[in-house]
Amino acid sequence: MKKIALITGASKGIGKALAKKMLNEGFIVIGTSRSGKINDIEGKDFHSIKLDLSNPESIEDAHKEILKKFKGIDILINNAGIGPDLDTYYPERKSFNLTFDINVNGTVFFTEPLIEAINENGAILNISSKMGSLHVCELTDSVAYRMSKSALNMYTKILANRLKGKIKVASIHPGWVKTTIIESNLTNGRLTPKESAENIFNFIKMDYESGTFWNSENGSNLQW
Ligand SMILES: NC(=O)c1ccc[n+]([C@@H]2O[C@H](COP(=O)([O-])OP(=O)(O)OC[C@H]3O[C@@H](n4cnc5c(N)ncnc54)[C@H](OP(=O)(O)O)[C@@H]3O)[C@@H](O)[C@H]2O)c1
Repeated sequence: MKKIALITGASKGIGKALAKKMLNEGFIVIGTSRSGKINDIEGKDFHSIKLDLSNPESIEDAHKEILKKFKGIDILINNAGIGPDLDTYYPERKSFNLTFDINVNGTVFFTEPLIEAINENGAILNISSKMGSLHVCELTDSVAYRMSKSALNMYTKILANRLKGKIKVASIHPGWVKTTIIESNLTNGRLTPKESAENIFNFIKMDYESGTFWNSENGSNLQW
């Protein structure tokens, strides 16, 4: 039977490339976007769902739709994320709150009610960032973004402890990817979304330990 992957933020960038990759690899893919529309991905195995992680009602509606249509999920990939303060140097309240609303609060409260729908031996992968590593942080930029990814990493650890032996949980750094999360990534990024998705999929196939923080760009463990 085909496995089911739920990928948030599948309308562009890494999430879209990952949705395409997983469809090619024989998964049924549920992809989310705020509009509910996802262009250029078609087929009976692809389902798009409307989800705005900054809006609790939208989260609840998405849960209802997912749980009505699908009996179980094999892999939840929390990919949707924003970085409005990337490359800025001081926190600003509006973008700080929005970053936490989506990257942390929305992601946590989207995940919690879905956990019981994740099949045994399933997985939760949080698309984090090396920028959230306390260990490697030597810079002062992107305060909200970095802090949000550190918080997401802690959620990974907590879930890995809670779900030990049942569901694997990991944080993944997808590399520096040419997406519009910030305009400069389109020129400065090292990987295409397709290359990043290939690397993330290699991790999915690996026999990894739950509670891992993985750098999929170079295929190694990252320090928290
Ligand atoms: N690009 C990089 O170099 C890089 C590096 C490290 C980590 N990451 C992480 O990788 C993930 C994907 O990033 P990306 O570079 O692919 O970004 P992206 O191209 O900007 O895509 C972000 C996705 O998130 C969705 N999204 C935005 N706001 C949302 C909201 N309020 N509710 C639900 N979904 C929302 C977007 O969909 P709609 O706008 O259609 O709703 C879109 O599909 C993020 O978590 C990011 O932090 C990226």
